[in-house]
Amino acid sequence: MLFVLLTFFLPLLAAAVQPIEVRGNAFFVTGSSERFYIRGLDYQPGGASKLFDPLSDPEICERDIAYFQELGINTIRIYSIDNAGDHRECMQKLEEAGIYVVLDVNIPKALIARDDGAECSYNTMYLNEVLATVRIMSQYNNTLGFFAGNEVINDDSTTPAAAYVKAVVRDIKTFQRHTGLRLIPVGYSAADVEENRIQSAHYFNCGDDELARVDMFGFNDYSWCGRSSFTISGYDKKVEAYSNYSIPLFLSEFGCNEVRPRPFTEVQSIYSEDMSAVFSGGLVYEYTEEDNKYGLVLISSDNRTVTTNDDFDNLKEQFSSATNPSGDGGYQTSLPHSNCPPQTNQWEASDTVPETPKGALKYIYGLVDPEGNGFDADTQWACVAGGNNVDDTGDYSSTISRSTTHSFTRTSTSSSGSTGSSSDSNSNSNSNNNSSTRANGGSFLSPQSFMGLLGAALMLFM
Ligand SMILES: *[C@@H]1O[C@H](CO)[C@@H](O)[C@H](O)[C@H]1NC(C)=O
Ligand SMILES: *[C@@H]1O[C@H](CO)[C@@H](O)[C@H](O)[C@H]1NC(C)=O
Ligand SMILES: *[C@@H]1O[C@H](CO)[C@@H](O)[C@H](O)[C@H]1NC(C)=O
Ligand SMILES: *[C@@H]1O[C@H](CO)[C@@H](O)[C@H](O)[C@H]1NC(C)=O
Repeated sequence: MLFVLLTFFLPLLAAAVQPIEVRGNAFFVTGSSERFYIRGLDYQPGGASKLFDPLSDPEICERDIAYFQELGINTIRIYSIDNAGDHRECMQKLEEAGIYVVLDVNIPKALIARDDGAECSYNTMYLNEVLATVRIMSQYNNTLGFFAGNEVINDDSTTPAAAYVKAVVRDIKTFQRHTGLRLIPVGYSAADVEENRIQSAHYFNCGDDELARVDMFGFNDYSWCGRSSFTISGYDKKVEAYSNYSIPLFLSEFGCNEVRPRPFTEVQSIYSEDMSAVFSGGLVYEYTEEDNKYGLVLISSDNRTVTTNDDFDNLKEQFSSATNPSGDGGYQTSLPHSNCPPQTNQWEASDTVPETPKGALKYIYGLVDPEGNGFDADTQWACVAGGNNVDDTGDYSSTISRSTTHSFTRTSTSSSGSTGSSSDSNSNSNSNNNSSTRANGGSFLSPQSFMGLLGAALMLFM
């Protein structure tokens, strides 16, 4: 009898996580009023220079999940996804452990080049890789979010590249809506750069075109060192500065290592009412000890043995004693999206988001599935060859009614420093303006133009 009961209930025992969704400036568990705070780790075994996807290696992920559970975390961030790999087993095991993933969609040879190469690196082959990653990782309910870029802007001179990252955000969000994928939040993870931190946050959340705005924003932040405090670290100033930011914010990397072992006392602040109205938790950098000395565990050279260090014990202790604020933590809904920051010497990103390379429209509009080349992908050669948008087979631009150019005009700066309203010059000129469709996140192809596009695609394959 016991056996029968067990077999009956066993499938139910495997914990199934509900997808996480954005409401106002916070994350929630879908279908519940439970707010979700990211309590997590950056997971990059081998370090930043090693191109390795731990989610396509079941032996590795299984080895580490036990430690994630011991730490009591609910999220990991992975910097490199092999879009030719098989992630089912690791994603399933993570789900059973109640752990979500935040994924970076770029790899070193398929990314937006931050310097002069932004334009040539934003090409059809690049978008094929990014969208392939989004497609394969969207099937899992424990995929929490995608980062369209990480630290692309890292000083004054690299700010123009932000417009290209915003184009990638728009392309991913358009792709999600046209191919019926779950609308997993798309974000940007910003470097800890004092000069343009505020501008980046507002730039990625500005403009009338909802599709070109991020759904969430992450800061890499190393300002709390040792036994600092909410005010000494300057966390208080950040909470104040972003108090009207309309979408979820979190620390996509934290854990200053100037004092080791790290006491991780910031955890008490992050999950308290000091921060919960504006921030939704964060990710500790990082799981494994590498040359830069931010690790919680040492991995033996044969990859079999994990040895935890004092940082691990301290973090575990901090996580277990920091309970989330009761209720909804004071999150806010219906805050307006940001105004675009004025262009200055420190902020040079264009107010016009670049047009999608026309060869990529077939992926974005669901006519051809993007197929990733995994870690063999190299889309940067287009820059070396001096050519942009190589492989732009098929000109779909005349058959797609919706313009893919999204520009927003900046009004002249008023004395208060606010930039006034922006307008999207052409996002909706030809598409369905049915309000319930728009509420769902943007413009769609009309049936006629979809048939035209289909026709064009069929011709291409004849
Ligand atoms: C994912 O979540 C949805 C909504 O809660 C649910 O209907 C679906 O069965 C889940 N899928 C899996 C594979 O667990
Ligand atoms: C946030 O918005 C409120 C209401 O519009 C305003 O009074 C307040 O000054 C704003 N705070 C910041 C930090 O911009
Ligand atoms: C769409 O918007 C235009 C211009 O605002 C308006 O004239 C038209 O009636 C609207 N159509 C529908 C179906 O709402
Ligand atoms: C608007 O779209 C919704 C959902 O697709 C549909 O049910 C409704 O009939 C549409 N309304 C108009 C006026 O087209």
